Amino acid sequence: MKILTTLLELRSARRTLPGPVGFVPTMGYLHAGHISLVQAARAECASVAASIFVNPTQFGPNEDLARYPRDLPRDLALLEAAGVDLVWTPKVEGMYPSGFQTWVEVEGLTRPLEGGTRPGHFRGVTTVVAKLFNAVGPDKAYFGQKDAQQAAVVRRMTKDLDFPIEIVVCPTLREADGLAMSSRNTFLNPEERQAATVLFLALSAAKSAYDSGEHAAEKLRALVREAVNAEPLARLQYVSCADYDTLEELEAVRGKSLLSMAAYVGKTRLIDNFVIG
Ligand code: PAJ
Repeated sequence: MKILTTLLELRSARRTLPGPVGFVPTMGYLHAGHISLVQAARAECASVAASIFVNPTQFGPNEDLARYPRDLPRDLALLEAAGVDLVWTPKVEGMYPSGFQTWVEVEGLTRPLEGGTRPGHFRGVTTVVAKLFNAVGPDKAYFGQKDAQQAAVVRRMTKDLDFPIEIVVCPTLREADGLAMSSRNTFLNPEERQAATVLFLALSAAKSAYDSGEHAAEKLRALVREAVNAEPLARLQYVSCADYDTLEELEAVRGKSLLSMAAYVGKTRLIDNFVIG
């Protein structure tokens, strides 16, 4: 496995990779969810590239950039074991040299949900993903359904900017009790970790209501609210029942829809979603 830091090194290593090349962008502190993306790429592509870069421009001023967990040696060992051919670990000064002033911004899709509660977040995501795509030049790129809006925004950007890259979205990997795997779960103390299952339980309650015939979106949102309000350590930030593609809030669930939520458990902000319909 080649490990590269500068763009120059990356470009010359990239030229030696047999295609098609699958790419898995990450911010590191890898867990089984990240590795499942590598495995999907491994199954479909001749070569697999990954990146590890904690992207400062997608964190708000009061967010957890400084606290974001990091363990590069462990991450590299996990990627190597999963069969990655090339890892790019750019430096902040390399990605954003002084004088940097060009941004990639997707408009409508970034307004609600995560975009509504984390201003500027998606501008940072799309800018860095566009730079990573330009640098790595993959044929396919792999994203997790866990970050459903991110996947939708990246798909839109890829289409709008004519990147010749297929975006593949892979299912959310969960712990045994349903909690979606996330690098941020390491911030939870044991009591909070227990309480954090409320996201999965709340979405499950709404999904089983949907499965038994409740299609009114507001009823489904209310079930999520109720479940989260019953957990003293959790505080709901938003719940949404929206069209899967446009992310517009629905009155009734007819086609493919996204039931999504963000909640604080203690000081840790967690997100989760189910696809219904
Ligand atoms: P990060 O949070 O490290 O996630 C990297 C990829 O792993 C994303 O596509 C995310 O959706 C996926 N992922 C995270 N948890 C998952 C789980 N439990 N199951 C399946 N996939 C999961 O998302 C980012 O980094 C950044 O925004 C990035 C795209 C790298 C741009 O900086």
